[in-house]
Amino acid sequence: MMTMTRLFFPLLLASSTLVQAEMTFEISDDGTLKQPQNYREWIYVGTPVTPNDMNDGKAPFPEFHAVYIDPKSFDHWKKTGAFRDGTILVKELVSVGSKQAVSGKGYFMGDFIGLEATIKSAKHFPNEPGNWAYFSFTDPQHGMLKSTAKAFPTEACNACHQASAKTDWVFTQYYPVLRAADGTAGR
Ligand code: HEC
Repeated sequence: MMTMTRLFFPLLLASSTLVQAEMTFEISDDGTLKQPQNYREWIYVGTPVTPNDMNDGKAPFPEFHAVYIDPKSFDHWKKTGAFRDGTILVKELVSVGSKQAVSGKGYFMGDFIGLEATIKSAKHFPNEPGNWAYFSFTDPQHGMLKSTAKAFPTEACNACHQASAKTDWVFTQYYPVLRAADGTAGR
């Protein structure tokens, strides 16, 4: 019996490590997502800007949106032009810090002010259109990010992405890095 335990334990450990390596995010069975870490080391795909001063002083997602995709899903995108089950994209919100620099007038990045994320998982979100679920770690009241988040209802986020995003709920029309990397484009 002892020998059996010793033999099986390392095998179990090895297989659970493998499963984790496939997922770049940590999510519990009830759909609570842990705040993504190290995403600034992922693949950067683009930066839409919705400055407050062009949105009646209150953009829904102020102001710069630096968007990143996890490296494994980027590899898959390059080969297939599709987002694999297990994809995570984050959009980090950055304020406009200045509108004037030595290079001229413009919008220059200030501070980090928020973090949003979307993940595609058939296992966790079988009923969400496209299996995409949307999260916010932004906590404007406390000025700090939340450590976990629950998915928004479908109408709050998914519906607009489904209606207007170019590729599988993702706004690739605003991400030149993804467009350039798509190895299937023009095939
Ligand atoms: C009215 C339409 C609309 C709604 C509602 C909306 N989004 Fe988006 N979302 C966009 C657009 C447009 C972009 C790309 C340009 C940008 O960032 O402004 C985007 C980009 C994103 C991205 C980057 C990855 C991607 O899919 O392109 C994330 C993450 C995201 N939104 C999260 C959310 C969350 C969380 C909610 C709900 C609280 C939400 N969105 C609601 C329009 C919307």
